[in-house]
Amino acid sequence: MTQALKENPPLVSAYLPRAAKIVEKRKLTDGETWFRFTFPDAQGVKYLAGQFMEVSLFGIGGAPISICSAPGQRDDLEMCVRAVGDVTRAMHALNVGDTLALRGPFGNGFDMDTVAGKDLLFVAGGLGLAPCRSFILDALTRRGQFGRVTILYGGRTPKDLLFRDDLAVWAERKDAEFFVTVDRPDADWKGRTGVITTLFRQVAKSDPARTAAFIIGPPIMFKFAVLEALGRGLGKTNIHCSLERRMKCGLGMCGHCQIRNVYVCQEGPIFSYADVIRLREGI
Ligand SMILES: Cc1cc2nc3c(=O)[nH]c(=O)nc-3n(C[C@H](O)[C@H](O)[C@H](O)COP(=O)(O)OP(=O)(O)OC[C@H]3O[C@@H](n4cnc5c(N)ncnc54)[C@H](O)[C@@H]3O)c2cc1C
Ligand code: FES
Repeated sequence: MTQALKENPPLVSAYLPRAAKIVEKRKLTDGETWFRFTFPDAQGVKYLAGQFMEVSLFGIGGAPISICSAPGQRDDLEMCVRAVGDVTRAMHALNVGDTLALRGPFGNGFDMDTVAGKDLLFVAGGLGLAPCRSFILDALTRRGQFGRVTILYGGRTPKDLLFRDDLAVWAERKDAEFFVTVDRPDADWKGRTGVITTLFRQVAKSDPARTAAFIIGPPIMFKFAVLEALGRGLGKTNIHCSLERRMKCGLGMCGHCQIRNVYVCQEGPIFSYADVIRLREGI
């Protein structure tokens, strides 16, 4: 936890359902919608990159959803939601001005202060860009505190790419390297084609001892991206990933995420690769 969060703990209990109002909503793809929420109780929200909220819709249910906006003490937060079932489809049907309940933030998150001065390598696959965006926005907001910043992003098709406004901004930045690829191009796609690991060829070698990698995406991507990072000499403790896919309640209640004595939703979802090996069943 950052020094600031330690000194100023959140005003509102993470377990208290709070009304949250949708103040912006935008369709990002056919399946994913972005929301910005504010809190009518005016208490704001404090969170780290990698943390998530439990969303509740009355009469429908709840779902853990990552926070995708830049971390810190804020009046609002953002989420990117893929419609897959009852809760997430019902969220997509809500409109600006509607209210739902949020609890959190939950999970360990990651304190970016601990990698200050290092080169940062972000590797995001598919919906993994949602939680990864929180890390990236933090790094780019206080750019001077980090070494080289490199962002690799892979989607299935051009139509599946999330946060296209951000992608355009990142591509233009002179102080960050950004590479995107798709598995299956369409007729209009002029960018790179191939799985995300092919992007590693574009990345100039950096001092592995001074590099921190963040790999967030589907399990198959995770496996091969970690091999690339290890191949570049990164230490297992310098590779960070999210094991959020193992969860259900996200709150330490259902035991669904438990690997031996570890509740992934409480001690994770962000783990170093050294810890992931310890939790080998997790991958
Ligand atoms: C820590 C955490 C962070 C998450 N962050 C995001 C996010 O930022 N954006 C987002 O869209 N989703 C995120 N998810 C996944 C999201 O919680 C599930 O998609 C949601 O719970 C589905 O609820 P539902 O009622 O809409 O669907 P359900 O009716 O519960 O399920 C519909 C289908 O989705 C599958 N499913 C359910 N939960 C998951 C899961 N955790 N992972 C993969 N498939 C699942 C089910 O097996 C079923 O096939 C996150 C999950 C966790 C644990
Ligand atoms: S997901 Fe339910 S206890 Fe961790």
